[in-house]
Amino acid sequence: MKVTIILNGTPYTREVAGDLMLLDFVRSCGCLSVKRGCDTSNCGLCTVWVEGTPVLSCSYPAVRADGKRVTTLEGVQEEAEAFGACMAQQGAEQCGYCSPGFIMTVLAMARELTDPTEEEIAHYLAGNLCRCTGYVSQMRAIQAWLKERRREEQA
Ligand code: FES
Ligand code: FES
Repeated sequence: MKVTIILNGTPYTREVAGDLMLLDFVRSCGCLSVKRGCDTSNCGLCTVWVEGTPVLSCSYPAVRADGKRVTTLEGVQEEAEAFGACMAQQGAEQCGYCSPGFIMTVLAMARELTDPTEEEIAHYLAGNLCRCTGYVSQMRAIQAWLKERRREEQA
């Protein structure tokens, strides 16, 4: 089947098999930030946005994204760098393998929730596993970044 997917603002038209997952589609288009972890919808590593909503691309058929806007870390680089700097300041950066999926979920949450509580943040991020940390420094980084973001919005 022929699909056209608007990937980070650029349309890509490809002939794809019905069982091709969005993860493989975006990687074949050069978006190598998107990683395969569990491949069973359990780790969050492969998170991308479809029409602004986070989805697990390892279990999202590429044909479902036909005609839709898909965003990966490559498409939100500036914002991701600002959050990444906050992670580093809070000592939340370790091996970094989970970071692309984690960052995509954090940026989506910031668009969806206004001033979330710690519990709401933990709930939103429950699907993004990190094997390196106990999530405490990550939580500190998210809260610091959200605070800075609100401050800039109000300025
Ligand atoms: S690789 Fe998709 S959820 Fe783990
Ligand atoms: S930083 Fe290593 S898995 Fe998350």
